[in-house]
Amino acid sequence: MMDIKEVESELSKEVARAETLTELQKVKAKYLGKSGIISQAIASIKDIPQEERREYGQRVNRLKEYAEELIRGKEEEIKRSELQRKLSEEWFDLSVPLEPAVGTLHPITQTLRRIKGILVSMGFSVMEGPEIELEEYNFDLLNIPKEHPARDMQDTFYVNREGYLLRTHTSPVQIRAMLSQKPPIYMVAPGRVYRRDDDPTHSPMFHQVEGLAVDEELSFGHMKHTLENFLREFFEVEVPVRFRASYFPFTEPSAEVDIGCVICKGEGCRVCKETGWLEVMGCGMVHPAVLENCGIDPEVYQGFAFGMGVERLAMLYFGIDNIKLFFENDLRFLRQFL
Ligand code: PHE
Repeated sequence: MMDIKEVESELSKEVARAETLTELQKVKAKYLGKSGIISQAIASIKDIPQEERREYGQRVNRLKEYAEELIRGKEEEIKRSELQRKLSEEWFDLSVPLEPAVGTLHPITQTLRRIKGILVSMGFSVMEGPEIELEEYNFDLLNIPKEHPARDMQDTFYVNREGYLLRTHTSPVQIRAMLSQKPPIYMVAPGRVYRRDDDPTHSPMFHQVEGLAVDEELSFGHMKHTLENFLREFFEVEVPVRFRASYFPFTEPSAEVDIGCVICKGEGCRVCKETGWLEVMGCGMVHPAVLENCGIDPEVYQGFAFGMGVERLAMLYFGIDNIKLFFENDLRFLRQFL
């Protein structure tokens, strides 16, 4: 038989001494665990001589209840004081300034918005079209028939549906504008375009903004004035601008627009390939055949059109020499464009 008084006083002392939940857990196991002192006493009640068994059994069971109660009480006490300790020791300094986790606009988005903003302020409205485009709108109606060598100017991604492709420029949106609206038309078409091209200054997907004006008595002079003003606003300086004769099937005459190199100020450097000039746009007077294809009488109306690459303008504006940086989503790069 176990000395119940003795066990009770030992247990009380040990529980009182426990300071942490782990220590208390050990005491609990020692007395109430499977082979703990009290559990064993309960298991051996059946071996006690009959005369004493009943009374002893009751006392052992009371001891067990007492032990459980005592330990539960102590457990709560420890938890309460743990919480008190945490509340007094752990704290936040709300006065420490935090770096706010606010995102920023991608440099291409910023550039696109600035381009659109300038053109809208000049009176152009913004129109969008699909990236999977009809071959007819991307080429044929723009005066680039099948088998025409000019198709090679833009190496195309075709899709496995007859008559469709990934648009190689946003000029088809201008076709859509002319087919759906009557002149006067003043619109710009921003968006993604696709070409089979991949090197430090070309990406298979890039952004363009193309513009179209169709009205009575529009001349090359109007176009020149519009584009010169646009470029000065965009680069925020009085950049020299020159128009160089060129060829596009959908415009006649056509020109490429150069600005004085913003890196070397025209002295000649690696970026401008020592020429002092940087090509930034294509433009021209809308070819009469294109107007006719869209049901607009070229005897009454003239048009001018222009197209620019957003990545190219962003690279020149921010001074970035590799187009791939725009698409890697490296935060160290992106964080520079707050
Ligand atoms: N569509 C031409 C291109 O993507 C750009 C352009 C637009 C040229 C309008 C002339 C007039 O290369």
